[in-house]
Amino acid sequence: MSKSHFLIVIGLLVSLMACTNGSHTNKVTQWKSYSGDPDIEHKVDSVLRLMTLDEKIGQMNQYSGNFAATGEVNDNKSGEYLKKGMIGSTFNTFGADHIRMLQEQNLKYSRLKIPILFAADVIHGLETTFPIPLAEACSWDLDLMEKSARIAAEEATASGIAWNFAPMVDIARDPRWGRVMEGAGEDVYYGSLVARARVRGFQGINSYKDFAKPNTLMACTKHFVAYGAAQAGRDYHSVDISNRTLYETYLPPFKATVDEGVASFMTAFNDLNGVPCTGNKYIFTDILRDAWGFGGMVVTDYTAITEMIDHGYAANLKQAAKLSIDAGIDMDMISEGFVTYLKELVKEGKVSEKQIDVAVARILEMKFLLGLFDDPYRYCNAERQKEVVMHPDHLKAAREGAQRSIVLLKNDNNILPLKKDIVKRVALIGPFVEERESLNGEWAIKGDRNKSVTLMEGLREKYANSAVKFTYAQGTTLPAIDNATRHISETQIPDKSGFANAVGLAKKSDIILVAMGEKFHWSGEAACRTDITLPGNQRELLKELKKTGKPIVLVLFNGRPLDLSWESENVDVIVEAWYPGTMSGLAVADVLAGDYNPSAKLVLTFPRNVGQIPIFYNTKNTGRPFDENSPKDYKSSYIDSPNSPLFPFGYGLSYTTFEYSNPTISSVEMARGGNVIVSADVTNTGEVAGEEVVQLYIHDKVGSVTRPVKELKGFKKIHLEKGETKTVEFTIDEDLLSMYDIDMNWLAESGDFEVWIATSSSDESNHLEFTLLD
Ligand code: BGC
Repeated sequence: MSKSHFLIVIGLLVSLMACTNGSHTNKVTQWKSYSGDPDIEHKVDSVLRLMTLDEKIGQMNQYSGNFAATGEVNDNKSGEYLKKGMIGSTFNTFGADHIRMLQEQNLKYSRLKIPILFAADVIHGLETTFPIPLAEACSWDLDLMEKSARIAAEEATASGIAWNFAPMVDIARDPRWGRVMEGAGEDVYYGSLVARARVRGFQGINSYKDFAKPNTLMACTKHFVAYGAAQAGRDYHSVDISNRTLYETYLPPFKATVDEGVASFMTAFNDLNGVPCTGNKYIFTDILRDAWGFGGMVVTDYTAITEMIDHGYAANLKQAAKLSIDAGIDMDMISEGFVTYLKELVKEGKVSEKQIDVAVARILEMKFLLGLFDDPYRYCNAERQKEVVMHPDHLKAAREGAQRSIVLLKNDNNILPLKKDIVKRVALIGPFVEERESLNGEWAIKGDRNKSVTLMEGLREKYANSAVKFTYAQGTTLPAIDNATRHISETQIPDKSGFANAVGLAKKSDIILVAMGEKFHWSGEAACRTDITLPGNQRELLKELKKTGKPIVLVLFNGRPLDLSWESENVDVIVEAWYPGTMSGLAVADVLAGDYNPSAKLVLTFPRNVGQIPIFYNTKNTGRPFDENSPKDYKSSYIDSPNSPLFPFGYGLSYTTFEYSNPTISSVEMARGGNVIVSADVTNTGEVAGEEVVQLYIHDKVGSVTRPVKELKGFKKIHLEKGETKTVEFTIDEDLLSMYDIDMNWLAESGDFEVWIATSSSDESNHLEFTLLD
């Protein structure tokens, strides 16, 4: 069917129903819409009236995108669904022409010709791949994250995609969990700001009306909720947390995205306090819909309805489907629970048609808002796709993003930067010098792994015609994961045959630059570890290199905090590059050469060992806090490890140094409704210009419930020229001091507060105090 034919059919139907039905109250269904726009609601209602029960249920069915991939609808199940108009959405198919073809099939075969909503996991870029989200969050640059999300949206929406399964906003405090790479780290305050920035970037809207622009990408906040608290850092594991922890730690970033206007949510795989999230009425109806007023649509995670059987929460798929729709879920990803059983459940009177109408209304509203009823091919613009995908401006932004995500963890004797004009023989050693495949990290859904720039290529370009001369030996290989077993491959165990050559080259060098890490599929979904040291025999190789006595610069490529306890003691420099994306090698070379002065800081604590996990900065004090300066027995501590992490939250070095001084507070008392202003002077005391993330931490000393030892409540990333001083100011008001009191009321309790203006969560040198009056 041609586009104009389609428009005439739908246009006629919609206006016909509009004529017969002027009043709001006569609608087929009453539901709280996302837009709140009576016209849109009316259009949705008009379409609903035309639909059979089967067609309605079909809208609630989301299928993976490989049906009819070769052209005409084929005779497999998905082809059958498509012919009957029983696919509301599909995901992870790409390309303007390909998606156009699929939409054409839908319009040709389905009775009502309701456009399919095409979705995808565009987590950190479409083809232009940005650093993994955890890395990008280390930039503490919200504009940068908004911009990369916008670029991802530009590329995705030109390639047929209208709906993105991102951002992932799960607070994550366990580096064993592979999915820490997808989020913004451990902190609630910061994570909420990042979540909002990413929604702004993907959706790019000021109001629901903007969804009709062809480059808006509907965002999906996931995974609701507390997925990051999976027991023992094992993916999909149970979550058992108090309601207080749920409210204080896990819900806020989700709420922040609702406030930012996110249009959809995804369920989480885990059970939460005994109830799987996908069948959890408390979180989806009581909290998301009723308390937060969310009017958008909710999709399950992949097969999450079926999984309620394995959870032991549903006896069969039929019961699982009922539990899910009763919880407030609108769309079923993959399980086919809705499409198989909802009709039967309606006939049996166990699910009402009204429940189905509400879910379908939410789905149709999004299709209207996204302009798909006006033009089902709105997102299929092959010309625009060609023009925007991997556009030079996008690559430039990806390089900047990568520079700003790289964290300098250690730099003894200012070995870095490696100046181009100083004669140096550098031995490049390690499996990541020439590794290309891993550089995009996981969830680089369309990022071409062959196009990412390796470290070797970046260095060769950077140091061409310079006084620096490189030699290279791989030394060892990266252990792989066997895809069939999802375990470390037993057939690809790295051996030591390359050690001797590597050590030989190292001996003839002035500096050893070692690039090591984890293969990309060692983090991400279903990629959890109990041992978070460098995989394989990389540490053993480092030990051999150490024996040469040459300075060692270790550049790391990985998707989670690693246990670097040996490395931090024994190598001179550590650069945490994460997975920097398409422009990896160039950005890392920019940092190594000092053309970019590192400014990133950790957003997830690096433990000394896995035994410390969970370890995060905003812990409680306990009744027996450990203090270095007082007797150490019977205190809250270990007998075999310090309490402190190896590298704390908010930590990261620069090629310059910053000094904080003159902490000032406008008043030591704060009246209700008032505020206090705190400030400190920050001076660049080093030799080069640089950027510093100035952090504000607050401690509520006494509460109706115990309070964390400190909480991040503000930050500013400032640029300082060599020798320059800036006064950095923060305003503290009641809102910033609010907490859930003993009765779960959100308020600020009177009393004493401590404040630090700090360079990291472990810096307590600039300390202030004030009292919030009754
Ligand atoms: C993941 C989701 C993702 C979905 C679709 C699931 O396995 O948990 O985050 O959006 O697959 O690809």
